[in-house]
Amino acid sequence: MSTPQRYLNQVAVVTGGSTGIGFAIAQQLINEGAKRVYITGRSLDTLNLAAQTLGASAIPVVSDVAKLTDLEALKHAIEQRGDTLTQLFANAGIAEYNSFGNTTEREFDKTFDINVKGVFFTVQTLLPLMQASSAIVLTGSIVGNKGMENLSIYSASKAAVRSFARTWANELKARKIRVNTLSPGLTRTPIMENGLKLNAEQLAQLQDYASTAVPTGYIATPQEIAAAALFLASNEASYINGIELTVDGGMTQI
Ligand SMILES: NC(=O)c1ccc[n+]([C@@H]2O[C@H](COP(=O)([O-])OP(=O)(O)OC[C@H]3O[C@@H](n4cnc5c(N)ncnc54)[C@H](OP(=O)(O)O)[C@@H]3O)[C@@H](O)[C@H]2O)c1
Repeated sequence: MSTPQRYLNQVAVVTGGSTGIGFAIAQQLINEGAKRVYITGRSLDTLNLAAQTLGASAIPVVSDVAKLTDLEALKHAIEQRGDTLTQLFANAGIAEYNSFGNTTEREFDKTFDINVKGVFFTVQTLLPLMQASSAIVLTGSIVGNKGMENLSIYSASKAAVRSFARTWANELKARKIRVNTLSPGLTRTPIMENGLKLNAEQLAQLQDYASTAVPTGYIATPQEIAAAALFLASNEASYINGIELTVDGGMTQI
């Protein structure tokens, strides 16, 4: 069966598009005909590696979402190619544990600067380039509705992301721009090693946990999450606006 071409000639931005869920989103957009996909991240090497795999339709741009000057530079790079945007995936984020009682201001600011301020100013900065009737997908997390231990900052940051989607769906209605939040559950990406600092033994324990705590019985692949992101941004979801789509194998439903 041939791949559907829902994104033929579309131009998208995927922040945090160099690895994990963002990379899978970029890959599926290109597989479905996207003309250009701007992928961002902080590491040039990781971005270049991703762009090599994705091919010529992927444009790597080093851009830290926590820095407004970097976001302006991203906007400039898009304008220089004469592009306007049909989809924006504000996906870049970090996940780090914090121990309540010992949390430093620096830890707090780091997560909020990237996950909250970063999403806010990504969307605000790129909004002038968004076409009418385009779509924005924010990457939230199931933790925004949970109370998991040692995750208070990360969880609060994702609750803020979910809140943005509600307000922006309202604020952008005149331009017919839809805004939705995609909230993944456990997903096997580099965030588990780089952010949560899980070692091999802890990763194996997480797999065991998923086999009982998640009705589907396993940790999601980034591709399974990306498929839902592409649905939300597509015309198939033309009447879906302001929602949080939880993609967690049923983990938070039972
Ligand atoms: N994996 C999960 O279980 C899970 C569950 C729920 C939600 N999520 C969310 O899904 C999103 C993607 O995470 P992932 O799991 O795919 O992790 P990942 O593989 O670590 O990907 C994170 C991406 O974001 C980029 N990034 C991080 N900080 C950035 C910054 N300040 N500016 C620009 N780019 C930045 C990373 O590149 P650089 O490091 O080079 O900047 C990378 O491209 C995040 O928002 C995360 O919170 C993940």
